[in-house]
Amino acid sequence: KIGAREKIFLANRLAADFFSQTLKGEAGAGALAYLRNRGITDETIDRFGLGYAPDSWDAVSRCLSSNRVPVDIAVGSGLLIAKDTGRFYDRFRNRIVFPIVDTAMQVSGFGGRVMDDALPKYLNSPETPVYHKARSLYGLNAAREGIRQSGTAFVVEGYFDVIALFQNGIAQVAATLGTALTRDHVRLLSRCGAERFVLVFDSDEAGIRAALRSVPVFQKEYMTAKVLVLPKGHDPDSFVRESGPDAFLAMADKAMDLLEFLMDASIRRHGLSIEGRLKVLADMKEPLLAMEDRVARSLYIRVLSDKVGIDEGAVNEKIHQAPAV
Ligand code: UTP
Ligand code: MN
Ligand code: MN
Ligand code: MN
Ligand code: MN
Repeated sequence: KIGAREKIFLANRLAADFFSQTLKGEAGAGALAYLRNRGITDETIDRFGLGYAPDSWDAVSRCLSSNRVPVDIAVGSGLLIAKDTGRFYDRFRNRIVFPIVDTAMQVSGFGGRVMDDALPKYLNSPETPVYHKARSLYGLNAAREGIRQSGTAFVVEGYFDVIALFQNGIAQVAATLGTALTRDHVRLLSRCGAERFVLVFDSDEAGIRAALRSVPVFQKEYMTAKVLVLPKGHDPDSFVRESGPDAFLAMADKAMDLLEFLMDASIRRHGLSIEGRLKVLADMKEPLLAMEDRVARSLYIRVLSDKVGIDEGAVNEKIHQAPAV
């Protein structure tokens, strides 16, 4: 007797095969053209199992029921949505589909992108017994070998960022899918052999905020990270398609330390007036104190003192000073 989780994995696998077949059939012509237009090759389509969800309310529903998937499992997988009337309809309709494959090669969830400017641009599986967005990374299965070999993991935001880098020979890449990076994400990557982390978020407000918010996550895992800042307006997909993998790797070599990135962001916000510098020191107090490694902490304090132009001893004192009551 198999449990609900296994049944959901099975339903997901059936759906992934259905989406993949549909992409290759007549109904998938537009979707295939869309992918080709974005530079995606047939080999990449197969490697990532990309598919197409037809423009139908019940195509997935019929596929699952003809394979004798019970309706509670179909709904539990997130592939179908239950209506008040007791009827069901397909969640993914008329979208490019990205199966999210875990390290055991099971399909845990899906993402779907529209092919025009309709909103929402992306739709993801809801939380299910097998899909937890805070614990899954897109592309991890394909990235495993590359991470193990290089010891490096590039962390990006989206589906196309993973796929474009992978197709350009940069295989050690996984995506958080627009959610905040978590300790579980970092642990998953560490378990795959990642010793170095390079964040390559979109070069916009949201991407910068996402990088800054990940500081405590790395600290709690006793890991450091670097930040690759792409030219403004770019994401890894657009950048690698425009400039190629060598330019990307050259930028990765010069990636900035995450904590230095945090210092620079604080300096940009507060400026270097006397008041501004004091605010910068206040901003940096918590992240510096959170560092377990005393030597590393003192090295960062030296960097900070250079940046704000305050004597190292004074910075040190300020950082370690008990909070005012
Ligand atoms: P982005 O908003 O950066 O995607 O979201 P993008 O680069 O513009 O998308 P393309 O290149 O036009 O296809 C990055 C990731 O955030 C999640 C998706 O996982 C996406 O890949 N996201 C984004 C959502 O879940 N929902 C959305 O509406 C938008
Ligand atoms: Mn966008
Ligand atoms: Mn973005
Ligand atoms: Mn993007
Ligand atoms: Mn993009």
